[in-house]
Amino acid sequence: MLVLGIETTCDETAAAVVERLPDGSARILSNIVRSQTEEHAPYGGVVPEIAARAHVELLDGLVARAMKESGVGFPQLSGIAAAAGPGLIGGVIVGLTTAKAIALVHRTPLIAVNHLEAHALTPRLTRALEFPYCLFLASGGHTQIVAVLGVGNYVRLGTTVDDAMGEAFDKVAKMLGLPYPGGPQVERAAEGGDASRFNFPRPMLGRPDANFSLSGLKTAVRNEASRIDPLKPQDISDLCAGFQAAVLEATADRLGVGLKLFQERFGTPRALVAAGGVAANRAIRASLEGVAAKAQTMLIIPPPALCTDNGAMIAWAGAERLAAGLTDTLEAPPRARWLLDANAQAPAGFANTRAGF
Ligand code: KG4
Ligand code: ZN
Repeated sequence: MLVLGIETTCDETAAAVVERLPDGSARILSNIVRSQTEEHAPYGGVVPEIAARAHVELLDGLVARAMKESGVGFPQLSGIAAAAGPGLIGGVIVGLTTAKAIALVHRTPLIAVNHLEAHALTPRLTRALEFPYCLFLASGGHTQIVAVLGVGNYVRLGTTVDDAMGEAFDKVAKMLGLPYPGGPQVERAAEGGDASRFNFPRPMLGRPDANFSLSGLKTAVRNEASRIDPLKPQDISDLCAGFQAAVLEATADRLGVGLKLFQERFGTPRALVAAGGVAANRAIRASLEGVAAKAQTMLIIPPPALCTDNGAMIAWAGAERLAAGLTDTLEAPPRARWLLDANAQAPAGFANTRAGF
């Protein structure tokens, strides 16, 4: 089974060809990602209109390269998969429409993939992993704990009630004058910092649900920063270290509750899987080791290039759905919002302004 995957939901334009073998294992034949970081950097964040235009300009060339590198011709493809949401609607329309055109011309099945489902199924792209497992997804747009029970079968156990975790890193970086994207900058600055200098709040600590809240912590960092102003490099390091330590402690606590809820409802997970850009943070990775060990499960973090947005994860989710007999018609709509767990309710106090909760 050979599937072309297209990703355009945020600021990465990506295309890939993935082969699914009869035993359920995978081979990535090509995986090309073009990040638009440079286009958005002057604005300190992703500008939707600029992203949509860049996807239009880049996507056809990327698809051609992905096909060429894979050595696969369009007639050999078993399916065309595109991320149909959730995300910035302009970009989603570009990717989905392109996939529909290819599917129509070559009379190939279309698979409209939920971007979050692609993150959720990524560990099965790189290794044999049975369901059920617990996913911690932390990116610029999402912070969720999800029980992955099967292809198309997901239960959300926790989510952020305000900012996404990557978004909080980016906002803290911005207020401290560090460049975009802020996550890696905050991590680097934190290395030389004293995490104990500031007593930042650990949001939601000890709460019985598995939800996150990050905007109060972000405000606490802002208040300290404006109290000190002008900031010296050591102040910035100390603020980053304090912020990151608070995020780590809150994450360990929230995931501990999430894994407990998982155990009560679905038994022992086969693994704790981390995905999304924030999973690239070494301090967070180290803390997740401890969380998984405590829950007596293994920790799987896919390689960074597959943790962040890419085409291979979309192609793979398409292949998994195709293998399960799930395809879509050319009427499949682009969606700015699209819950992975259709039964999930917005948590109390929910105030997230980004796609999906
Ligand atoms: O998954 P991703 O590449 O894109 C989406 O948001 O979908 O995640 C990007 C986010 C950004 O907010 C970025 O600041 C954050 O992940 N990030 C990090 C690190 N690397 C990337 N956050 C903390 N520490 C890092 N090392
Ligand atoms: Zn993503």
